[in-house]
Amino acid sequence: MKILFIGDVVGSPGRDMVQEYLPKLKDKYRPNMTIINGENAASGKGITEKIYKQFLEWGAHVITMGNHTWDKKEIFEFIDDAKNMIRPANFPEGNPGKGLVFVNINGVEVAVINLQGRTFLPAIDDPFSKIDELIDEAKKRTNLIFLDFHAEATSEKQAMGWYVDGRVSAVVGTHTHTQTADERILPNGTAYITDVGMTGPYDSILGVDRELVLKRFKTNLPVRFDIDKKGRTQLNGVLITIDEKNGNATKVERILINDDHIFFS
Ligand SMILES: [Fe+2]
Ligand SMILES: [Fe+2]
Repeated sequence: MKILFIGDVVGSPGRDMVQEYLPKLKDKYRPNMTIINGENAASGKGITEKIYKQFLEWGAHVITMGNHTWDKKEIFEFIDDAKNMIRPANFPEGNPGKGLVFVNINGVEVAVINLQGRTFLPAIDDPFSKIDELIDEAKKRTNLIFLDFHAEATSEKQAMGWYVDGRVSAVVGTHTHTQTADERILPNGTAYITDVGMTGPYDSILGVDRELVLKRFKTNLPVRFDIDKKGRTQLNGVLITIDEKNGNATKVERILINDDHIFFS
């Protein structure tokens, strides 16, 4: 089982990159399943139903979210019907949506989980006790479990990786929008990367117009952040191969497409 994961898609530059490169990535790697983090897909803030459906049309099986889940008000209208969208499972009990979804890929079931860290992020439920619960639930149906851990602190992400090593197939970090080069298979068979990175504006600061971010740093005054639509673009992802017999990962490869890393010759 090969799973392609695409990191935080930011606004229309990010969506354009997915539309252009997802078919090329599918040709090159032949993934059985594609997962996209879409928490910034609508102008950097949240997601709309139209964009969610577009991602599915382009070949995504699951859309994961994060701290920007509720930014677009229309999310409340469609999240309960969006069966392939998950938001962090450790949001307070009773929040709309869900944090675990099972997807059937040619007869093989894959559980996909979204969780959010709580270091330098809002104080929500404990992601560590939540993952224990969710692993128990998922294991009743499958050994193939994929976790998008949306968190700020590298330490919290590494802690999660070690905590679930051997119990889930893969832990990919999202949220920081900067790809880390620490991809590995942990000793008990869990593929791990601290952050997959982002997909969208390349000549930006985390996707935001860099002049605006600089203005805030230099003046300390409130500045409205808009995404950068002038500069070049990038796609960040990861490809994970999993042994279907036991759910262990056998390979993890980073994908980085930008003008400084020629990916397709
Ligand atoms: Fe993000
Ligand atoms: Fe985030």
